[in-house]
Amino acid sequence: MALPTPNPFRPGAGRVPPELAGRDALVSEVQTSLDEVVHEGEGGRPVIISGLRGVGKTVLLNEFVRTAQDSKRWIAIKLEAVAGNSLQLPLARAIHQELRSLMTTGEVAREKLMRALAAFKSFQVKVDPSGTYAFGFDVEPVPGIADTGDFQQDVFDLLDQLGRTARDLGMGVLLAIDELQSAPKSDLNALNVALHNLGQDPRPVPVSFIGTGLPSLPSVLSDATSYAERLYDYRTIGLLEDAEARDALAHPVERRGIVWEPAALDEALQSVGGYPYFTQACGKHVWDVSTGTTITRPDTLIGIQKARDEVDRGLYMSRWDRATQAQRAMMKAMAEDDDRPSAIQDLVIRLGKSRTSDLSVSRKELIKSGHIYAVDRGFVAFTVPGMADFIRRRIGDLESRIGD
Ligand SMILES: Nc1ncnc2c1ncn2[C@@H]1O[C@H](COP(=O)(O)OP(=O)(O)OP(=O)(O)O)[C@@H](O)[C@H]1O
Ligand SMILES: [Mg+2]
Repeated sequence: MALPTPNPFRPGAGRVPPELAGRDALVSEVQTSLDEVVHEGEGGRPVIISGLRGVGKTVLLNEFVRTAQDSKRWIAIKLEAVAGNSLQLPLARAIHQELRSLMTTGEVAREKLMRALAAFKSFQVKVDPSGTYAFGFDVEPVPGIADTGDFQQDVFDLLDQLGRTARDLGMGVLLAIDELQSAPKSDLNALNVALHNLGQDPRPVPVSFIGTGLPSLPSVLSDATSYAERLYDYRTIGLLEDAEARDALAHPVERRGIVWEPAALDEALQSVGGYPYFTQACGKHVWDVSTGTTITRPDTLIGIQKARDEVDRGLYMSRWDRATQAQRAMMKAMAEDDDRPSAIQDLVIRLGKSRTSDLSVSRKELIKSGHIYAVDRGFVAFTVPGMADFIRRRIGDLESRIGD
């Protein structure tokens, strides 16, 4: 008999895993500082969480936002930066949605939100004058607040007014931005300056900021504003330790009264290599092929193969297919370093070029398309764990596709 449905594992983007493995310490530290912000009515240090693709940044960010919303003590605003687009419009939409929902669920009385609503209106009128941002009653903008059209000034005013409103209500403001490395440099500068200025008040308003993004995010923020290095509390998340990946695979299964045969679990662990996204893909496929109350090694081997095929096609092959021939050649040269950063100097030699500038176009384009990121000056690395392994494993196959 097949295992019970629904399948507990959740491969995909931002899908809540059945077990949030290996993040307890980080979650509890960030949560403690968020709790302090509400408790003291005073803003804390903004936080940046960075990591490779598929390690669980969105899941974590959503977890903080959800906890904040459930506690009913936060004005929680979440948005995602999209390359080439300003943060202004998504910010306006996210604030509108949150203010509306606070009012319509009756959690906060309309009069108590008036200051925030008016500041929002001033901001919105500048950012998206033709947009519809109804609250069910008229809200007048306040002249002189968040309406200069200069994002740096306006985002400061807006967060300041939201923060003051929150303080009056015994609440906090949580601003959460995913994929922050994709935001335009000028917006990042505006955000840095606004957060910096908010933090300089002797009693900063209770605004918390969490930004998530690729490992390049800290340097992207520093490029936008030099003091960003000291402004944020930088955290990184990576692959799971063995014991954590074991929990990620075993706990969801055990909670359904099913067990892994020890050899089967070892096999699965070896195949996922601590990559959170793989734990879900592997768990899902193994669950799908298993029967009875014990997951056996033969079933696990079939599930692993199915997971690998799916991930190869979905995650890796699609990236490979999107690259030009020159970009593929550069990725192939990078694959020799496995998941370690590659020195551009070494790539120049491997590719039989004479100067680093010979690779600058491919490098720039691969960074732009999100295949690779600049680690340090002169070094690049893949944004997706396991890309190097994929290229090496499938090299013959891939070469026959060149020119497709
Ligand atoms: N701590 C964890 N334990 C187990 N599975 C996890 C964990 N974190 C994330 N996952 C799973 O990994 C997958 C990717 O998660 P998520 O989309 O949050 O990653 P991400 O870092 O935001 O990736 P990207 O950079 O592509 O946006 C999801 O299927 C999610 O359920
Ligand atoms: Mg994400």
